[in-house]
Amino acid sequence: MKHLLSMCDLPKDDIYAILDMAESFQKGNGWSPPKATFAVNLFFEPSTRTRTSFEVAERKLGLDVVPFETAHSSILKGETLEDTIKTLEAIGVDVVVIRHKEERYYEALKDRVNAKLINAGDGCGQHPTQSLLDLYTIRQEFGGFSGLNITIIGDLSHSRVAKSNSEALSALGANVFYSGPREWFFGDAENYIDIDHAMEISDVVMLLRIQHERHENTSRLTAEEYHELYGLTLKREKRMKKGSIIMHPGPVNRDVEIAGRLVECNRSRIFRQMQNGVYTRMAVLRKILEK
Ligand code: NCD
Repeated sequence: MKHLLSMCDLPKDDIYAILDMAESFQKGNGWSPPKATFAVNLFFEPSTRTRTSFEVAERKLGLDVVPFETAHSSILKGETLEDTIKTLEAIGVDVVVIRHKEERYYEALKDRVNAKLINAGDGCGQHPTQSLLDLYTIRQEFGGFSGLNITIIGDLSHSRVAKSNSEALSALGANVFYSGPREWFFGDAENYIDIDHAMEISDVVMLLRIQHERHENTSRLTAEEYHELYGLTLKREKRMKKGSIIMHPGPVNRDVEIAGRLVECNRSRIFRQMQNGVYTRMAVLRKILEK
């Protein structure tokens, strides 16, 4: 595996290999690259979880993390992303983690750079490491994917998390349903279900933040209206299936897509997802660095 850019080009065998490696890291097994390895994290969009999770994963594997602030880089002087990466490569960087607002920014780079690229989110496109940590969390809970009902709710068309998970979960045998405002639907209409029905049938209820930064117009709904119509309210949680779980990639807007009190409830795996993100990113780094 040279780069990790999208769940669309990650074969099932590689997905399972990464999940197994993540499990091995969680059990306390270690691994370090055979030679000194340098990583840099280029985040052109805000991030709390993904960026720190990558950094902790890199440090746990013994990689040297080169500090890089995109807001103070030569990109502000007109240097292209490709030239920035080639510069980092020349200086000795082996792995470059990138988050960028432009969808598929990586297409222009993937065959032109020697460093290994990991996509940490491209606009409304893909977010493969979030998907892998979500898959890890689901497998940890249910032992597998086949036959599980998973409903992804909210701002689907602008969400790279929805796109990556939809692709991967369907390939692994889960039944993926969608719910939320119609104007944000994507893909086939046949899998769209009413949110109240979703509560009754879903093993996993996955909520998404409204991606205001990717909208051209402001929402027609207030936060309170959105919560009542499409959010996981306290009332709706009571109707969820026995043994079902709540997931959310974060950042959470409490009382919009999910009632604030449910973020830490028994069904919530939101903080577990963050813990699992470190093991999963360690596994991705290992997979990409191992010959
Ligand atoms: C997500 C992202 O950046 O796509 N967050 C994350 O990486 N955990 C979701 C979001 O921003 O809503």
